[in-house]
Amino acid sequence: MNFFDDKIAERLGGINFGKSTRIYKFELIKRAKAAAKIAHPDIPIIDMGVGEPDWPADSLVVQTLSQEAGKPENRWYADNGIPEFQLAAAQYLHNAYGLQIENPTENIIHGIGSKPILALLPICFINPGDILLTTVPGYPVSATYTKYIGGEVFNLPLLESNSFLPDLESVPSEILKRSKALYLNYPNNPTGAAATSEFFKHAVDFAHRHGIVIIHDAAYSALTYDGYKPLSFLSIDGAMDVGVEVHSLSKAFNMTGWRIGFICGNSKAVSAYATVKDNTDSGQFRAVQKAAIQAFNHLEITQTTIDKYSRRFDLLVHALCELGFKAKKPKGSFYCYVPAPTGTEEGTQFKTAAEFSDYLIRSALISTVPWDDAGAFIRFSVTFEADSIEKERKVIEEMKNRMKKLNLKF
Ligand SMILES: Cc1ncc(COP(=O)(O)O)c(C=O)c1O
Repeated sequence: MNFFDDKIAERLGGINFGKSTRIYKFELIKRAKAAAKIAHPDIPIIDMGVGEPDWPADSLVVQTLSQEAGKPENRWYADNGIPEFQLAAAQYLHNAYGLQIENPTENIIHGIGSKPILALLPICFINPGDILLTTVPGYPVSATYTKYIGGEVFNLPLLESNSFLPDLESVPSEILKRSKALYLNYPNNPTGAAATSEFFKHAVDFAHRHGIVIIHDAAYSALTYDGYKPLSFLSIDGAMDVGVEVHSLSKAFNMTGWRIGFICGNSKAVSAYATVKDNTDSGQFRAVQKAAIQAFNHLEITQTTIDKYSRRFDLLVHALCELGFKAKKPKGSFYCYVPAPTGTEEGTQFKTAAEFSDYLIRSALISTVPWDDAGAFIRFSVTFEADSIEKERKVIEEMKNRMKKLNLKF
């Protein structure tokens, strides 16, 4: 008996914490990759599973961090952030999304990445027994925290038949009565779908009708393709009255490890977040906030990244279609989400996307992420390592050749 056996809170499983034999998806992928490496040490893994940019932050941003890091005035606890960051974020929202933020110091607060913001927001809105409506498949952080604090979660499936948008009118009335917040994420991880302004208008109307707060996760909002313009939820009339939007520099500016993002929206909601945040962390290092300001002032960093992903999507989608996948270039994000094959001509069967993904790593050394929450789908990410256009072509060609040999059936 370990002293801590009966000390772990029920929200983490209490006495059963650490005893579950269930292995989580990303651990399974890690194990399959390790096994494939041992079985085929000479064949490099093609990693299409990564959820992070392959490029580092822009050198301008890195330079700003290195200059600011040593300045004595930046050494203090940053608490809820510096006003220069709030003003620059507001200007960024104007330049990138056409938004006019009335009062940046009340409508915007930074976060140590968008993940902690999404974790803290349920603490602002959810009482025990309240429901968070969330989309599946999806990024689970707000749902996890909702459950931690005694709330409940109601899943809205993202189906291809509805362009991977949730059917808000499908929520049963007894669920609606207890619903307090709705989590949305567009462009979406993992489906790559983008929201239309009609959908956002419907969501704002739904929020008004049922008294539900909207949390829009805009982590990928800046990454859009082929004429689809970045769309902020807050650009919809009335959205500021019912919602908040969470932005991140991780994907738009290749700054995942830097940990910087921000929330923008209704001043009362932002002030609730500021209160919880103030009791949780002491802010991101001012030098990182100043480097982020530099990034905000250089939208071309995002544009160059978009050009790269767009080029890679064209190659990837073409190759996947040739192999028999029903692949389409997404409107946003860096993910291509396709129905998983059902087996191989030789008789191997895949009952789930997870089974296919495991087979793909072990037999072709290609790593992807499977999703079985709303149909069996595979996510290919265009953030694979390739430091030239020529190498990008080679990676896709090699991926195609390896998969061709598997004789996949759909
Ligand atoms: C949909 C979505 N939201 C938020 C995040 C968190 O991003 P960060 O905490 O780096 O801002 C991620 C990261 O992968 C994500 O996929």
